[in-house]
Parts: sequence; C-alpha cells; structure tokens
Amino acid sequence: MHMLDVRDLRVHYGGLAAVRGVSFRLGRGELVALIGSNGAGKSSTLKAVAGLVSCSGGAIRFQDAEIQKLAPEARVQRGIALSPEGRRLFGRMTVLENLLVGAHTVGSRAERDESLKRVYALFPRVHERRSQLAGSLSGGEQQMVAIGRALMARPRLLMLDEPSLGIAPKVVSEIADAIRRLNHEGMSIVLVEQNARLALRLAHNAYALEHGEVVKSGKGEELLEDPYVRKAYLGV
Ligand SMILES: Nc1ncnc2c1ncn2[C@@H]1O[C@H](COP(=O)(O)OP(=O)(O)OP(=O)(O)O)[C@@H](O)[C@H]1O
Ligand SMILES: [Mg+2]
Repeated sequence: MHMLDVRDLRVHYGGLAAVRGVSFRLGRGELVALIGSNGAGKSSTLKAVAGLVSCSGGAIRFQDAEIQKLAPEARVQRGIALSPEGRRLFGRMTVLENLLVGAHTVGSRAERDESLKRVYALFPRVHERRSQLAGSLSGGEQQMVAIGRALMARPRLLMLDEPSLGIAPKVVSEIADAIRRLNHEGMSIVLVEQNARLALRLAHNAYALEHGEVVKSGKGEELLEDPYVRKAYLGV
C-alpha cells in the first residue's frame, strides 16, 4: 500500500489551471522527486497535498484515508509537513523560536525536546545559531532552519519545496546530504526541485511536470539517462 497516493489532482487559480490531472505515488520510506521548470505546477501540487490551496478535482490519499477535504492543521496532525519555497521564516524571531513554531501541534515537551535534538544533530550549524535572529542567517542556513522547522512537527511525510534555490553550491551539497540521511533513517520525502540533476540523484522515483501535467516518470536513475529528460532538464 502506498503512503501517499495523489490521483488526477487539479488546482485552479481563478481561470488558470495550474495543475491539470497530476497523479503520483509514494511508498513508505521512499523519496520521490517532482521536477519541472518555472510555473510547471510543482509548488501548487505540494500546497494541495498540504491543504494550503484547495483542489478543484482529484483525490489525495494519505495512509489510507482521503485527506483532500481536511484543513491544513489536520494534515499536519496526521503527519504531513511542508518546508515551503522561499523558506518563509520569521526573520525577527530567533532560530529556536522559528523551530518551535513548527512544533506547535506537538503536545508533549519531551517530544519537542527530542525533535530539537534531532534537528540539531542533522544540522549542527542550526544549533550554533539557535539564539540568532533567523533573518541574519545566510540563505543556506535559513534553508536548514526551514527544513528543521518542518521536522519539528514530527512528520511521517516531509515535503521540501526547492531546498537548493539560491544557495551556494557547497551548502547545496550539505543540504542534499542531510536529505539523503533523513531518507536513509526512514523518512518519506517528496522533493520538489528545479535542480533536476540533484533531485534525480536523490530520488527513488521521479515525475517531470510541464504545464500542470506529468510528462515523464520513472526511477530517478533511469530518468538521469533518459534522452528527453537530459535535453529538457539536464542541459545535455
Ligand atoms: N496564488 C496564485 N495565484 C494565481 N496564480 C498562481 C498562484 N500560484 C501559482 N500560480 C500560477 O500557477 C502556475 C503554477 O505555479 P507553481 O508555483 O505551482 O509552479 P512551480 O512549478 O512551483 O514553479 P516555480 O519553479 O517557479 O516555483 C503558474 O502559472 C503560476 O503563475
Ligand atoms: Mg515552485
């Protein structure tokens, strides 16, 4: 059984069809990548799974229940967390305060402390900077905080929207290592990336989106070798 099963998802903004019948699935412990150029509908797909935009069609099953009608909060409680595009931290709050925002659905202090330890172990730099204002961090460090904040909700499914965007190459590889490590420890992950090479290297399965539709799907390693994908997304 799949942990997440998105079928024929549709998202509209007024008259604009941003997602036009996207289907993808993710098994427990799997890392699935959604790749595609600007405006392909990647973020809209993630937002629909998180409940931040409503879907105008299709079904989203998570752990054997349809969730497309649930409020965002209820989806967080079921175990879905999103690290949004552009990070969206509270710049005038400290790193620690930002992380705790992610834990607001978590009742017990012991669980919160345990999650904090795990985030700090994953990103030692976040620990070093925990008392600094989030707005004073580098882009890469802010991205680490954004991923950490999503992890603070103790998700079963982590969705990452463009974690490499606008970040120095050296830090991109640090973040990629952390994503790989999280997945190896059992976290199920949906990774949205314009950096297709990075995403396909990390992913078990991947889907390429264009104009709100899936145009290619397959194993990450297979798509890395696919002539169409190489031409359209890898610049070779
Ligand atoms: N809030 C919104 N209101 C109106 N149109 C929107 C809104 N959000 C996205 N769109 C449009 O929907 C389409 C898909 O956007 P989306 O952000 O999902 O794409 P994306 O694949 O994430 O792109 P990018 O790589 O630039 O982040 C685009 O045409 C975009 O302009
Ligand atoms: Mg996007």
